[in-house]
Amino acid sequence: MTDDNRIKNIVVLGGGTAGWMSAAYLGRALGDTVRITVLEAPAIPRIGVGEATIANLQKVFFDFLGLREEDWMPECNASFKMGIRFVNWRTPGAGEATGRPLGGGKDHFDHLFGLLPEHDDLPLSHYWTYKRLNGLTDEPFDRACYPQPAVFDRKLSPRFLDGTKWASYAWHFDAQLVADFLRRFATQKQGAIHVEDTFVGADIDQRGHITAIRTEGGRTLEADLFVDCSGFRSLLVNQVMKEPFLDMSDHLLNDRAVATQVPHDDEADGVEPFTSAIAMSSGWTWKIPMLGRFGTGYVYSSRFTTQDEATEEFCRMWGLDPATQPLNHVRFRVGRNRRAWVKNCVGIGLSSCFLEPLESTGIYFVYAALYQLVKNFPDKRFDPVLVNRFNSEIETMFDDTRDFIQAHFSFAPRDDTPFWRACKELELAEGFKEKVALYKSGLGVNLPVTDESSYYGNFEAEFRNFWSNANYYCVFAGLDYLPDHVMPALAHRPESIATAESAFAEVAKRREELLRTLPSTYDYLRRLHRK
Ligand code: FDA
Repeated sequence: MTDDNRIKNIVVLGGGTAGWMSAAYLGRALGDTVRITVLEAPAIPRIGVGEATIANLQKVFFDFLGLREEDWMPECNASFKMGIRFVNWRTPGAGEATGRPLGGGKDHFDHLFGLLPEHDDLPLSHYWTYKRLNGLTDEPFDRACYPQPAVFDRKLSPRFLDGTKWASYAWHFDAQLVADFLRRFATQKQGAIHVEDTFVGADIDQRGHITAIRTEGGRTLEADLFVDCSGFRSLLVNQVMKEPFLDMSDHLLNDRAVATQVPHDDEADGVEPFTSAIAMSSGWTWKIPMLGRFGTGYVYSSRFTTQDEATEEFCRMWGLDPATQPLNHVRFRVGRNRRAWVKNCVGIGLSSCFLEPLESTGIYFVYAALYQLVKNFPDKRFDPVLVNRFNSEIETMFDDTRDFIQAHFSFAPRDDTPFWRACKELELAEGFKEKVALYKSGLGVNLPVTDESSYYGNFEAEFRNFWSNANYYCVFAGLDYLPDHVMPALAHRPESIATAESAFAEVAKRREELLRTLPSTYDYLRRLHRK
């Protein structure tokens, strides 16, 4: 037999979203060739936030587990998210939940899922830029190129009542319910072992590998591979393996959040099918609608405001009384471990890396890392080639998203407070500056090399090109940060420019059809949740 070196035992330390996602994903990938044990300290709470996601969650994670939306959504109070609405990122002022007046409209724009429609082999972004820079349109980028913004305004659904899906979407859900659902799935359907006890230490062999972890209750859990999902404590990777955490607060200033739940009358007010990211004096607030409530939290920088000031601005915006409202104050670190995988220990989730949730990437980082771990799965020899490959994938995944998020703050026109002014003084990474230069010269940024179905059908393609041209345009053009000039080659294609009008007209026609025929998000979710 050549399988003597196979990994036979895996211990996952931590039973938050990352811990149970890891147990379920590895259980599916490795079947009964391995035994998976999850150690969770019931007295140490999960972070409990993490409610907005990215569209590939179903395909890359739940489909892989064999779970349909109908199986997990009702268990997790899940609702739909077709994108993110950025509110008040251009106008000065304290937190306000709806867009302030701006240029005859409102200060908000939408960052949507899905690729941009093309015309004559060029994305519509280039034709929109042509029109905008030549004074031929006042229509904002998102509304000219996508039907979704009008659908958001009316709180309509990404599915018709017969179930037909017309747009790419992700989900909002209750993070605690997701972890509990996956715990049941992993323990009852896949045979994962759940140990409720507290980690107190680890045994290390002469190679520096962990051989076992020990618990307060006197247990010794031996394994070949350890997955550290212990949250910000990073008990194994940072504390036992002493791997340094690379702090990236020179890119992103926010390091705290104050969060709560707000009851909501869905029948009277509908359910918004999008996350909101509302700019505040010293950061921004998320609003994540679910049935019967929305989750919300002000992500702020302790360098520019105090907990009391942030809480006051946050509660004032929602009409809450800070003295009686249950509030969750969270401190977080921004950055990643120098190496995500060290010897026989892999960090997944908050123990490995964290970025403020402006683009809802936390849970995505968990299953993207699991995908890479399975692809580079080791045996007991722990070939450094596999370890290094995994680490370089995680590094690129993280740093690329860090840069994209930093750009939201750098290019936001508002500069009315010390926080917003300080954001503009931070240096962008060199590689990212090159992408910005491409955008400014009117070229596409990270253009997908395939069409929509093969792009989203193949996670490998998406992972390597995660923030594509459509993302850059939605955010940059949404912030009024425009290219300096039109792509020069377009000047040689007058016919394409003329006929592009039919593509914009097609978007407008589709929008009118959708507004006429779609059910409300509330009606669709009520049926799905049988409420
Ligand atoms: P988490 O802290 O939840 O779990 C740690 C686990 O380790 C717990 O089960 C605990 O009991 C266990 N543990 C700790 N010490 C132990 C010990 N000594 N012994 C045994 N067990 C121990 N993501 C996203 O995709 N969308 C979003 O909208 C957000 N929003 C968001 C907002 C804010 C403010 C933060 C801080 C984070 C987010 N996230 C997010 C990120 C998201 O919350 C996070 O990625 C996942 O919940 C994963 O969390 P973990 O499971 O890694 O840690």
